[in-house]
Amino acid sequence: MVDRHATHEQLSRKLESAGQQHLLQHWDELTPAERERLAAQIENLDLELFAALKKQFGATEPGRVADHRAHWAALAARASSPPALRLDGSGVDFSTEAAVQRGEQLLREHKVGMILVAGGLGTRLGCDGPKGMFPIGPLSQRPLFQVLIESLLAVRKKYQTAIPLYVMTSSATDVQTREFLTAHNYFGLPKEDVKFFSQSSMFAVDDGWNKILLASKGELVLAPDGHGGMLRAFEKSGCLADCRERGIDLLFYGQIDNPLLQVCDPLLLGSHMLSRSELTTQVVKKRRPSERVGVLVSADNKVQMIEYSDLPEANAQETLPDGSLKFWAGSLAVHVFDRELLERAASQADALPFHIAHKKTPHLNERGERIEAYKPNAFRFERFIFDLLQVAERALVVEADPALAFAPVKNSDAEATDNPRLAKQAIQALHRRWLRAAGVQIADDVPVEINPLFATSADELAAKLPPGTSVTQATYFTPNGPAS
Ligand code: UD1
Repeated sequence: MVDRHATHEQLSRKLESAGQQHLLQHWDELTPAERERLAAQIENLDLELFAALKKQFGATEPGRVADHRAHWAALAARASSPPALRLDGSGVDFSTEAAVQRGEQLLREHKVGMILVAGGLGTRLGCDGPKGMFPIGPLSQRPLFQVLIESLLAVRKKYQTAIPLYVMTSSATDVQTREFLTAHNYFGLPKEDVKFFSQSSMFAVDDGWNKILLASKGELVLAPDGHGGMLRAFEKSGCLADCRERGIDLLFYGQIDNPLLQVCDPLLLGSHMLSRSELTTQVVKKRRPSERVGVLVSADNKVQMIEYSDLPEANAQETLPDGSLKFWAGSLAVHVFDRELLERAASQADALPFHIAHKKTPHLNERGERIEAYKPNAFRFERFIFDLLQVAERALVVEADPALAFAPVKNSDAEATDNPRLAKQAIQALHRRWLRAAGVQIADDVPVEINPLFATSADELAAKLPPGTSVTQATYFTPNGPAS
């Protein structure tokens, strides 16, 4: 807990031991409210972590980042395609039918919870607030939160089960996210099945490894500690204990930025159980070598992840004898975790290492002048949740069809890829495909959207729509039926 009454002297003593007194340099110019905020940030500063990171990464200044690149290049050189359950059912010793059945049973038995990571702002998307508030329904304009929560409600309804939702926020999104979801009555989820937990923030350090940086006279440069921050925050907040008390054995994990997220997919859950995996991760075949998705690989007898920014271009281009990409398994950042894996990892202080990034970081210099950054000038630190692969005894990779499972919403429509326009197209293409498979006539240019509480498949549509139905004008299938 933050000590609201920490005095200048106490703060100064704390900082002195690490040579960081400059953080208090402008104290005299601050208002009482600004002092309180800065005091809270300094109170929360983990200076032991700063010392440990300096020891780990600081030896040769920015040069260490080059070592880091060499590390990933060497891993890519010795890695191969990972063993995986492929779309055609190959790669495992059980059938996909058996896996789906097992997954459905797990859902009915209330063994599954869901973690939704939503700590990011929609900066790249061009929206100020939490990404989850971004409207993505092609006709309904439903925000990402609603789209995903309604998908969860549909699963709960189908399997007559209670799946608690754990929403991870960050200091940048926490207040707005809670207010937004509360104001919308959690889009229909019972209040007792929604829990929020907030990830921690991390400081930035100048690339000479001397100073923790100030953003302004009364504020540190802080950023969320990466989605890997989920592990610690999930445990510290009591959410992990909540799972145990509810008898939840598996956690389905997804990101807020994918409206086609296959929420609590029975195939993924069942495959996880039947292969006795501790961490199962969903992938799609990369559409192009440069696609901005991490790749799952096999190396040193383990499934491992190489982030897109770390995979050397030459390796990204490598092909197998049949011409397909060697590193085909693009991560959707959708996982299933054993609760016990999370408990074991949370009990180890360093289960998830920090990754370092050399980034442009505007800040305040010693003279109190604002420094704009035109080239990388500081180190930032993040933990990645997929590093749990290093802790898991067994891992499984499961391929999904991107048309059914992946519509990333990362960039604004000004960018060519991963933008809202393409995501809306993907949603409509899938819904048109279901309608046609259900015997409905619909032309390619007729806008359409189906709420998951109306139907989540062609079969469900066929059961609800009379034979000979045709859709000739823009139609949103609401939970209660079509509305044009
Ligand atoms: C991420 C993955 C990438 C994967 C792709 C799939 C990483 C580093 N990369 O890329 O391997 O192929 O998604 O779409 O994960 N988030 C937090 N807190 C944080 C950081 C992120 O909650 O501290 C959440 C964001 O709200 C977002 C998600 O994690 O929903 C993805 O983060 P982002 O940094 O946008 O990752 P990508 O580069 O898109």
